[in-house]
Amino acid sequence: MPAQVSVNTKEYTLNNGTKIPAVGLGTWQSEDGDAYKATLVALKNGYHHIDTASAYGNEQDVGRGIAESGVKRDDVFVTTKIWNDAHKNPEESLDQSLDKLGLEYVDLLLIHWPLSIDPETEKPYEDYDFVDTWKKLQKIYKEGKKVKAIGVSNFNVKKLETLLNAEGVDVVPAINQVEAHPLLTQPELVQYLKSKNIYLTAYSPLGSGETQLFKNKAVVDIAEKNKVDPAQVLVSWAVQRDTIVIPKSVTESRIILNIKTFTLSEEDFSALNNLAKEQGAVRTNDPEWFDFNA
Ligand SMILES: NC(=O)c1ccc[n+]([C@@H]2O[C@H](COP(=O)([O-])OP(=O)(O)OC[C@H]3O[C@@H](n4cnc5c(N)ncnc54)[C@H](OP(=O)(O)O)[C@@H]3O)[C@@H](O)[C@H]2O)c1
Repeated sequence: MPAQVSVNTKEYTLNNGTKIPAVGLGTWQSEDGDAYKATLVALKNGYHHIDTASAYGNEQDVGRGIAESGVKRDDVFVTTKIWNDAHKNPEESLDQSLDKLGLEYVDLLLIHWPLSIDPETEKPYEDYDFVDTWKKLQKIYKEGKKVKAIGVSNFNVKKLETLLNAEGVDVVPAINQVEAHPLLTQPELVQYLKSKNIYLTAYSPLGSGETQLFKNKAVVDIAEKNKVDPAQVLVSWAVQRDTIVIPKSVTESRIILNIKTFTLSEEDFSALNNLAKEQGAVRTNDPEWFDFNA
């Protein structure tokens, strides 16, 4: 039986009352104008959420796509991120992002990685870390002008605990954006985030360019049974377990398809929940300069 698919319109309410659409467009590695076209196609086909970062070098293209889409600013949720070497001056980085995006505010500003690098030595600071950066983000957030919500990315439970227990920290991140898909379900982190009222945004939900989860037999079988594309299975699964999900594509037909979700049967949902237990966990985004367990 073909599944009933439709453009996903689910929204979550973050811990500060801000609303976020469950499915957004990822834009990492969308280069040379691709992010402009992808943003435009997405916003014309039901997306209301775009994920970018200062490090992606495409904020200008994303901004152009938003401006030309005809979608009202208030109807688009825009995320950008502070790169590792900008931790000591996140407001300057944010101002540059706003300038490139052509926007007066972003909906969500994230610390891209819990790693504060001195741009001069290209090494971590000895006397400054992500807690100090977070306090600067808190200040920008409380001023109420340039960001609607703040959050983190690539934080494990240990780092979140450090952050939440630090003196002077009184804003709980709205989001933790991490890699998540059926081969990296992150059960401990998911449980912890729920207990703290922090939403998880699943990045590399299709296994990025490398794992190609959309070729995994278990995923393909579920797709065939439901007469959908394997990527739709992965996006639907992420939404069904109440995470935000940001599949990236620069291909028009895929962008249009990826936001069309359906409800998985209990059996298929549970099969995907258990895939990593059977096949082993796989992390696709594992830079050598970062230790996920530290
Ligand atoms: N916070 C972080 O540190 C972090 C890290 C990684 C990613 N992210 C965010 O998460 C987003 C998504 O992650 P990602 O870019 O790593 O990977 P992804 O979304 O899991 O996968 C993207 C890859 O899948 C292909 N694809 C997309 N739709 C498809 C479909 N329907 N069928 C077959 N192939 C399809 C894309 O190709 P085409 O583009 O050629 O169509 C691209 O090669 C990023 O773009 C970024 O916004 C954040």
